[in-house]
Formats: sequence, structure tokens, C-alpha cells
Amino acid sequence: MFIFVTFLSLLSLSQIHADVTHPTLGPVYVSTNDSSLLNFTIIYPNDFRFDNLFIRFNIYDFVNNEKTNPQIYPFQWANFSNGNTSLPWVTPGAALIPGDYVIGCFQWVRTYQNNSILDDTHDCMLTRAPLNSTIPPIDQMNITASLVTNNTIMVQVYYPQTLPYDMVNITSNINGTLTPTTTNATSNVTFTNIQTFSFTNLMAETYYNVCIYTQYASSIDNTTYRLDTHCQSITTLTATPTLTPTPTPTPTPTSTVNSSYKMISNIMIIISMIIVAFI
Ligand SMILES: *[C@@H]1O[C@H](CO)[C@@H](O)[C@H](O)[C@H]1NC(C)=O
Ligand SMILES: *[C@@H]1O[C@H](CO)[C@@H](O)[C@H](O)[C@H]1NC(C)=O
Ligand SMILES: *[C@@H]1O[C@H](CO)[C@@H](O)[C@H](O)[C@H]1NC(C)=O
Ligand SMILES: *[C@@H]1O[C@H](CO)[C@@H](O)[C@H](O)[C@H]1NC(C)=O
Ligand SMILES: *[C@@H]1O[C@H](CO)[C@@H](O)[C@H](O)[C@H]1NC(C)=O
Ligand SMILES: *[C@@H]1O[C@H](CO)[C@@H](O)[C@H](O)[C@H]1NC(C)=O
Ligand SMILES: *[C@@H]1O[C@H](CO)[C@@H](O)[C@H](O)[C@H]1NC(C)=O
Ligand SMILES: *[C@@H]1O[C@H](CO)[C@@H](O)[C@H](O)[C@H]1NC(C)=O
Repeated sequence: MFIFVTFLSLLSLSQIHADVTHPTLGPVYVSTNDSSLLNFTIIYPNDFRFDNLFIRFNIYDFVNNEKTNPQIYPFQWANFSNGNTSLPWVTPGAALIPGDYVIGCFQWVRTYQNNSILDDTHDCMLTRAPLNSTIPPIDQMNITASLVTNNTIMVQVYYPQTLPYDMVNITSNINGTLTPTTTNATSNVTFTNIQTFSFTNLMAETYYNVCIYTQYASSIDNTTYRLDTHCQSITTLTATPTLTPTPTPTPTPTSTVNSSYKMISNIMIIISMIIVAFI
């Protein structure tokens, strides 16, 4: 059995900035009491009130990047009643391995006096266990428009192997409707998903909104499910005139005048420099 030393704190919720409609996890910090522990913060709506509030959470430590067999630290319910103040942050006393990917999944249940449920909210946060008193960066998905021509857009997505989600589904479309002409999926040691979406037969010099939708979850806990949407505007290139049918355009008189004028002024600058040099 694990013994969890968990620091709880009771603070007025007015100190919590709240642009949310239900309790949500905020930023994760290294605990100021113990630099090997994480400090999960919680953001509450401004008008958050309850007869009873039950909070619990699980911390998953993905030891050795093993996606389906994390070390699980379950924490007991923390119960609050009759109020508007509760848990604004928590530093779970889990013996995390430094640098490991960690997911914290929280649940908030509000009930009325008669114990009927008012609402039941979940939120999970991906972070990493402190390494030398700092939280190492989380590897990011890489999205690159690898090819843009007058009629083709090719987008490549790299999903890092290190991220602890074993269920990942990446799809793409243009302007919300146009599906890729081809989708090529592969993987290697560094990336679980290397996906190439090709959109062909597009119009030249046209603005397209290319979106990548990434659905991901850990099968360990289905409340980890997320959908991330990344959209980028890409304009296809100008149609290049083909050589045979189009005659070579003759230079217009103005451009000739301009270029010879430039040449003359350049010569004059050189001449005046020579004059200056002789003075
Ligand atoms: C919590 O409720 C008390 C009593 O109703 C009130 O005085 C206080 O301002 C409330 N605090 C917040 C943060 O709304
Ligand atoms: C956790 O973070 C909150 C918000 O920044 C802070 O007020 C609190 O003191 C921190 N607690 C610990 C133990 O680090
Ligand atoms: C908190 O609430 C849960 C769920 O109702 C209950 O099982 C648990 O015993 C309560 N804990 C305490 C300390 O009251
Ligand atoms: C962490 O600190 C130790 C001892 O100071 C040092 O040897 C090690 O290189 C540091 N690791 C990182 C990732 O900074
Ligand atoms: C990730 O993106 C950057 C720029 O966005 C690029 O330079 C780099 O090559 C990409 N990495 C991979 C593995 O595609
Ligand atoms: C990914 O999600 C889409 C849309 O929900 C679905 O049609 C497709 O079958 C899924 N692909 C995989 C490999 O799960
Ligand atoms: C995996 O593929 C990416 C993109 O092609 C490449 O940059 C990376 O070096 C590859 N990793 C390995 C270990 O082959
Ligand atoms: C796109 O460019 C290619 C050559 O670069 C050309 O053959 C083709 O006709 C162009 N297509 C359009 C739609 O402009």
C-alpha cells in the first residue's frame, strides 16, 4: 500500500481566475515544498457553489514510456460541503520517476443536500515528473506543409513516440469538407504516426484552410480523450504558363525605358565616382 502525503489547501475561490464553465485543470508547477512533486492547479467558474463537492484524482506515471502499463496512483475522495471554497491546487505525494510522462486525471462531483448529482466533471492534464526541480518540455506534434504547388498541397504530421497515448487517430480536411486525395501512414522509432495528407486538383492561387484533427486517448483511462485541431491557411501557387502555347511576351516599351534609364543612372554614378576619385 502506498502512503500518500498530499498537501491540500483551502483558499477563497475569488483568488482563482475563472473563464471556465466547470472545474478545469490549470497549469502544473513543481511543488514549492518538495521539488520532486508536481503541483496541479484547478480553475473554478466564478459563481461556483455547492452543497457537496467530491474531488478525486488518479496520477499515472508512464514509466519507461510504457503506454499501456503505467504506475497508477489513485487518490481518495476529498469532500467539501456547503460552500464556495475547495481545493485550488494539490501536490499529490506520488513517487514519480524524474522526467517521466505523467497524466493527472481529476473528477469533480457536485451533489445537492439530498445527494442527487448536480454535475460530474472530468479533466486530465499531460505533464512530466520534475527533473532537477524543473518540468521538462513535452514533445510536440510536428505539422509541416511539405509541398505546395499550383494545384497540390501536401501536409505531413509527425506524432512523437514519447507521448503516452496508445490510441491516436489523425485526420485532415480542407475548408472543413474536402478530404485528402491520398493519406499515407507510417511510423518509426521516433514517431508513432508519420502521416502524409495529399490534396490534389486544387485551384491555383487560392486560399485554403487546411486542418489537422488529432484524436488521442490512453486506454488506461477514457477521460484522457482529447481532440486537438490545428488549422493553417495555405495559398496555392500561381499557375505557371506552359511554354508551347503561350508566345514569349515581348517587353513593353516602358520596361525597356526603365531598364535603360537605370543602366544610364548606374553608369552616371560610376562616372561621378571616378570623377570624385580623380579630385
Ligand atoms: C462565498 O460565500 C460567502 C458566503 O455566502 C461570501 O461571503 C463570499 O464572498 C463567497 N466567496 C466567493 C469567492 O464567492
Ligand atoms: C501550488 O501552486 C499554487 C498556484 O501557483 C500556489 O499558490 C501554491 O502555493 C503551490 N503549492 C505548492 C505546494 O507548491
Ligand atoms: C467522501 O465522499 C465519498 C463519496 O461519497 C465517501 O466514500 C468518503 O467516505 C467520504 N470521505 C470522507 C473523509 O468523508
Ligand atoms: C541534473 O542535475 C545533475 C546533478 O546536478 C546533473 O548531473 C545532471 O546533468 C542534471 N540533468 C539535467 C537533465 O539537467
Ligand atoms: C518539425 O518542424 C520543423 C519546423 O516546423 C522542421 O524544421 C522539422 O524538420 C520538423 N521535424 C520533422 C521530424 O519533421
Ligand atoms: C479515425 O477517425 C475517423 C473519424 O472518426 C474514422 O472514420 C476512422 O476510421 C478512424 N481511423 C482509425 C484508424 O481509427
Ligand atoms: C523517423 O522519421 C523521421 C521523418 O522521416 C526522421 O526525421 C527520423 O530521423 C526517423 N527516425 C528514425 C529513428 O529513423
Ligand atoms: C501547374 O503547373 C504545372 C507545371 O509547373 C503546369 O503543367 C500545370 O498546367 C499548372 N496547373 C495549373 C492548374 O495551373
